[in-house]
Amino acid sequence: MGRWKREVLVIIILYLLISTMGVTEGKKGRRNINRKRHSAVSRALEIINGTSNSDAYCLSWRMAVEANNMRGWRTIPIQCWRHVQGYMVGGQYSRDISLIIDQIYAYLDTVSPFADSLDAWIFDVDDTCLSNLFYYQARRFGCDPYNPMEFKIWASKGESLAIPAVLEIFYRLIEVGFKVMLLTGRDEETLGEATVENLVNQGFVGYERLIMRSPEYRGLSAMMYKSEIRRQLMEQGYRVWGNVGDQWSDLQGNYTGDRTFKLPNPMYFVP
Ligand SMILES: *[C@@H]1O[C@H](CO)[C@@H](O)[C@H](O)[C@H]1NC(C)=O
Ligand SMILES: *[C@@H]1O[C@H](CO)[C@@H](O)[C@H](O)[C@H]1NC(C)=O
Ligand SMILES: [Mg+2]
Repeated sequence: MGRWKREVLVIIILYLLISTMGVTEGKKGRRNINRKRHSAVSRALEIINGTSNSDAYCLSWRMAVEANNMRGWRTIPIQCWRHVQGYMVGGQYSRDISLIIDQIYAYLDTVSPFADSLDAWIFDVDDTCLSNLFYYQARRFGCDPYNPMEFKIWASKGESLAIPAVLEIFYRLIEVGFKVMLLTGRDEETLGEATVENLVNQGFVGYERLIMRSPEYRGLSAMMYKSEIRRQLMEQGYRVWGNVGDQWSDLQGNYTGDRTFKLPNPMYFVP
């Protein structure tokens, strides 16, 4: 049910309309052509209606997810597989991220760090700095339920690619004088080395700290865990100017930062 189908239909309709225009025939013939034209057009409209119904549903679904009205979901609806695929790889996902990053640049124009080296920015890692698109591509963009073992195997390869617009703003923030903290729920013991390597091989160098989940925080929800880490940063004197993540659990809870920036992620939900 791709966009091409709709485009082909539009071409067919135009062809039918144009080819029957200017035909001079008797009243009967004209009526016949009109009837044919009418049924072809209504059939085309039905097909367009059908495809856009599922597309329309998936657009609503994605909107509900991004606005945090949909919680605790484990998989994306099966009828949205192709829709989410189209969104993720068809260019809109990157455009959405670019627009959000533009907002960070605009916000940066209004603030300036103090001279005490305690001005901080927080970034999440998975699908904020590093993209897991290849992993989810093989799992029908989130139609398949999350599998922690499989994800661990993927993450330990260290093959996630940087999200380019995020890498850009990451450098900009360091340049301006912010201390960039990478805060991830990834397990430190099992994924520490691979994560450091992956960040370096994708150009994420120069950050102040990479904070991963140590054994004492195992089992805590992302929101509780990240709130606690942010509390510790605040106690150490850091001012968190901005907080960027693809999950609401990165951005909610306590000490969330002066501004939060939610990146899109229609593929999975982390509580
Ligand atoms: C469009 O889809 C809706 C919902 O399935 C249906 O009720 C309606 O009759 C359809 N319209 C046409 C022109 O096919
Ligand atoms: C936020 O702080 C309050 C008060 O200290 C605490 O009770 C609550 O659990 C905290 N919430 C989170 C998500 O950490
Ligand atoms: Mg994430």
